Amino acid sequence: MVLSTGSNKIKTAVFISGTGSNLKSLIKFSKKNKSPISIDLIISNTPKAIGLNYGNIFKITKKVYNFNNKNLAESKVLSELKKNKIEIICLAGFMKILSKNFIKKYNGKILNIHPSLLPKYKGLNTHQRALEKNEKYSGCTVHFVSSKLDSGKIILQKKVKVTKNETVKTLSKKIQNLEHKLYPAAILKIFNL
Ligand code: GRF
Repeated sequence: MVLSTGSNKIKTAVFISGTGSNLKSLIKFSKKNKSPISIDLIISNTPKAIGLNYGNIFKITKKVYNFNNKNLAESKVLSELKKNKIEIICLAGFMKILSKNFIKKYNGKILNIHPSLLPKYKGLNTHQRALEKNEKYSGCTVHFVSSKLDSGKIILQKKVKVTKNETVKTLSKKIQNLEHKLYPAAILKIFNL
């Protein structure tokens, strides 16, 4: 990936809607010397996102936008990104689908993490569906965001074995632990680090 920044870390925004455990892992990663990115902005579509607390804890600017009017919300988000000189966007449990127009503006610079071995189980309720299909393995994927849901180029994937008596709860816990390692690894990979 080619970016305009010199020796400083690449300014990154993380978009969330919920707990923000991936946001936390990305913030921790960003503070390491080997990290090419810094997390400078947290965006949420809801004030209820618990992950917004990491903005307070780590002193990172956080902004909430109501996506009922998507066009308006996206244009406000875009100006906030510009104001903060954001070059990369990491979606981490962000429950809104960004418009083609938005994605075009950050083409090739938006990443997402998805709790399945894509291209399997795009969309929601991935663990439930994987269990219903008696999958032997499931996992998570970090991919570039394209205008088709959960379909952009895959950066990294990691799989876990689905054990006997696995439930949605146990599987999601197992996969989330993997996610926290996979997202930083995917970021290192796109910068060939
Ligand atoms: C993760 O499982 C991620 O794969 C999915 O949404 C969840 C977000 O969890 N896209 P968290 O908010 O990072 O804890």
